[in-house]
Amino acid sequence: MSKQDDPIGLDRAIAAETVLSHSDPESGQLLIRGYSLESLVQENSFEESVITLWQDVLSAELSMASLGQARMQVWQQFRPLQDHLKGMRPVERQRFLLSSLSETSTDPVLILAAAGVSAVLAMQENISNCEPDPSRSHADDLLMMIRGAESDQQSIAALETYLIAMIDHGISASTLAARVAASTRAGYVAAAIAALSVLQGPLHGGAPGLVLDMLDEIGSGEGIVPWLTAALDRGDRLMGFGSRAYRVPDPRAALFKASLWKLPEACRARLPLAEQVETTAIRLMAERKAGHVIQTNVEYYAALLLDAIGVPRQGFTPLFAASRTAGWMAHAREQQLTGRMLRPGSRYIGSYPSKG
Ligand code: ACO
Repeated sequence: MSKQDDPIGLDRAIAAETVLSHSDPESGQLLIRGYSLESLVQENSFEESVITLWQDVLSAELSMASLGQARMQVWQQFRPLQDHLKGMRPVERQRFLLSSLSETSTDPVLILAAAGVSAVLAMQENISNCEPDPSRSHADDLLMMIRGAESDQQSIAALETYLIAMIDHGISASTLAARVAASTRAGYVAAAIAALSVLQGPLHGGAPGLVLDMLDEIGSGEGIVPWLTAALDRGDRLMGFGSRAYRVPDPRAALFKASLWKLPEACRARLPLAEQVETTAIRLMAERKAGHVIQTNVEYYAALLLDAIGVPRQGFTPLFAASRTAGWMAHAREQQLTGRMLRPGSRYIGSYPSKG
């Protein structure tokens, strides 16, 4: 049997049935609870999108007010932990703060709020500098806490688009981790921490900060071909390119690009170089492997968008987690409802004791 017919590594395995979301690799359509991603973003706030995602799966009293109150509650809970954050890397801070929630916490609204507040605190050690304002929307408040000042409406709208677009994406690697944890009845906090630990890897949610590092190293138009050629010659993976989920452009990247164009010109200073890098990288990779077109993935334009609204690059992965926690919680519950523990098989290729 060929590798094609007998894949190893869960590539084509169906890990679960889900009503939550679906990405079509060929058409590039992303459905969330039956809605197209584009209509969800156009017609809903982040809070409304979470309510839509959670309906009939997670029973939670979620509203703008309850999420705001939960932000204040976790912020107060995290304050005494400030000294412990020194010297930690951003995702470590977020994981540490989430771990401080009671393992028996079953309130998904509180966990969602904790993911948002811990994302902000992952970017800056000084907890006292960023008190939340429960009367604001989640996107507005997170951005205010990140920037330490009121934000303009276009930037708030851009963050809202980002948070909604990242809310769920089928059974990604981190979502699988959440489902595996939940399937053992380990609880929601454990599921979120398991998922976050997987998300941080550079092949998954750890990529966007590295996209900006790449653009910084390339520097200008003349640097593009030499930099990309050297990276590909070394066998490096280009951050922000390639996808297991799509063979066509990622629909979220297009939304982020459109959001970028709505921001003031000064905010999107990186865009011209990024677009040149995108077309050149796609061409160079296709030349090396005839017929294999590797597109930019969601993280490429996510990096540009978050940078444009003033999110520091060390905050990109924690902010991704702040949104995706909504999906992780729903998947954890959906998995629990099956009553089935996830435990795949393996094919043993090691040795056996010798006979006789
Ligand atoms: N740069 C260079 N080559 C690449 C890249 C890339 N970004 N992506 C894939 N390839 C190459 C692989 O090396 C592989 O070559 P091989 O057959 O000679 O070994 C070939 O293309 C296979 O590619 P795919 O099957 O399409 O990719 P795969 O499913 O293995 O990987 C992944 C998907 C992990 C996202 C990969 O594209 C990658 O590492 N990208 C860079 C990291 C990144 O941007 N991650 C964010 C992903 S989006 C998200 O998780 C939210």
